[in-house]
Amino acid sequence: MTHFMLKEIHEQPDVIRRLLDRSISIEKVDRINILACGTSLNAGLIGQSLFEQVAKIPTQIRSSSESIYAPLIETPNTLTIAITQSGETADTIAALTTVRSKRIAITNGIDSTITKLVDQTIYTNAGEEKSVAATKTFTAQLVVLYQLAFHLANQEAQWLREIPQQIEAILKKNTIAEIAKSLENTRNLIVIGSGINTAIAFEGALKLKEVTYIHAEGCAAGEFLHGPIALLDPQIPTIAIGNVKKTIDRIRVNQNSVIEIPTPAIPELFTPFLTVIPLQLLAYELAILRKIDVDRPRNITKSLTT
Ligand code: G6P
Repeated sequence: MTHFMLKEIHEQPDVIRRLLDRSISIEKVDRINILACGTSLNAGLIGQSLFEQVAKIPTQIRSSSESIYAPLIETPNTLTIAITQSGETADTIAALTTVRSKRIAITNGIDSTITKLVDQTIYTNAGEEKSVAATKTFTAQLVVLYQLAFHLANQEAQWLREIPQQIEAILKKNTIAEIAKSLENTRNLIVIGSGINTAIAFEGALKLKEVTYIHAEGCAAGEFLHGPIALLDPQIPTIAIGNVKKTIDRIRVNQNSVIEIPTPAIPELFTPFLTVIPLQLLAYELAILRKIDVDRPRNITKSLTT
């Protein structure tokens, strides 16, 4: 394949398959704090939903850079989870040094700085990710978070086994090129999702910003009606993930356009693995159409180490 980003998008089914054959175990805790930046922060938001809804453990999440101003509350039995693809992000390293509770890192960075600061490392084993925009490391982080949450709930995350083949089906069918063509000259985009897919709306918007330079805003579908909808005009399309009919109807009333990402036929809790794929592909295809160096977009680096 011509670009690392596309190659890495296509590697996701195998990366996930490999992780499923591994068992993960951690001790019971009564509170979880998550620290991360960028795409890893979006994975963390999904982790927060899982720890709260599946494992019933109160969970706070904060961008590493913000946690310096407002540290997360720690109890004697709190677990802090640092999520970082590289293991070298300066903000996450700085945030971790102020933490007193037990620390776990979820990272793809073998022997990275973060692994030396924590009590336990869970590797995402996604193989080297060369594209600046994270794709396979994001879904690998999700697998680990699902495994941890279900482990803490003493349950099996059985639906994870269905994910690789369902991603393969989406990649094979790939209907994104046509949508990308229709958005080639768009300057602004809204991405909406709800529940566990709100984080995918954020991640889709981040991916679009990173590699297409289109101003893309991720928003919770319900919240979008409380102000941001005022932004819309026929030149600003909305991409809608999953079952957000009420918001879609309100957007369409004024002839504004909505592109719907279909809802996968699996329990909603597991859909983020599948809803993120079309958004990754859309970001890639649009970057190519807009003649952007997709693997090395301007102004960003693979990890911000200073
Ligand atoms: C940089 C990259 C982002 C990435 C973030 C976190 O800002 O440009 O794409 O998500 O760092 O990186 P990490 O290695 O900590 O996951």
